[in-house]
Amino acid sequence: MNAKELPLDLEAGIATLKRERNAVVLAHYYQDSEIQDVADFIGDSLQLAQEAAKTTADVICFAGVHFMAETAKILNPGRIVVLPDLDAGCSLADGCPIDRFRAWKARYPGAIVVSYVNCTAEVKAESDVIVTSSNAEKIVRALPTDRPILFAPDKNLGRHVAKQTGRDLILWQGSCIVHETFSERKLVGLLARHPGAKVIAHPECEPAVLAHAHFIGSTTALLKFAIASTDKTFIVATEPGILHQMTKAAPEKEFIPAPPEGNCACNECPHMKRNTLEKLYLCLRDLSPRLEMRADLIEAARKPIEKMLAMS
Ligand code: 13P
Ligand code: SF4
Repeated sequence: MNAKELPLDLEAGIATLKRERNAVVLAHYYQDSEIQDVADFIGDSLQLAQEAAKTTADVICFAGVHFMAETAKILNPGRIVVLPDLDAGCSLADGCPIDRFRAWKARYPGAIVVSYVNCTAEVKAESDVIVTSSNAEKIVRALPTDRPILFAPDKNLGRHVAKQTGRDLILWQGSCIVHETFSERKLVGLLARHPGAKVIAHPECEPAVLAHAHFIGSTTALLKFAIASTDKTFIVATEPGILHQMTKAAPEKEFIPAPPEGNCACNECPHMKRNTLEKLYLCLRDLSPRLEMRADLIEAARKPIEKMLAMS
């Protein structure tokens, strides 16, 4: 053990703790590659929620951001849910505080409220149905046509779903600090240098970037598309953590991260990147930090999540 009482071989230490705690590690694709490599399951938001719903582990270690771990807790109130860093948030969730959300909802009595899973449990509790980027289109298509539909908090995903479904959606004006940074100008320059490349993009990107995309989908959909495609070069407009699984699954292909406008690393999600392998080891060892929630909030937020799982 070193000074911080961490084993030198963190991976081996994590494997031992997983056995001792009967723990499952769920990781999102935006996690560092070393975290993805110790996970029992890697997926997009929908798959991670589905996996959390069916786990029999005593402890769920959620390597992702707060709203994702919260969803796992809502589906598993009796299990211990830990996450490496409790402060791993999300700009979409932060940009939709419950008091403003309630005031917005109140302006549209009788509307159906659809919320993207990237929101707080309080917002979920006051929504009719939750969606993720992989099922939003399907769920919106299935909604009744005689009532207005509110969609929060991501305006870019909402606009994309409205376009795909032909439904009128009233949009909350939120966006993701990561996906709004991709530069259309630099993307066009990259396409000129790689004429055969396919642009694959997450629907949280701005419309100007989505307009250049050959394929738009959730993180898992982007991965599946890249693996199945006969093309060899892909410009990937989402958080570059996903490139780890892309290059593992298709090492013969080239994956180029779409660049941000500035000379910065702002295409990396600062929230996701708060998690480290060390913190993951410590949260399994100490069973802390833990996700704790009020029983009434769990109860209220579970209904629209279960509706989503049933409609997916
Ligand atoms: P996915 O559901 O596509 O994994 O997206 C999650 C997310 O936070 C995108 O920024
Ligand atoms: Fe939230 Fe954007 Fe990070 Fe996804 S990439 S967790 S939407 S801040």
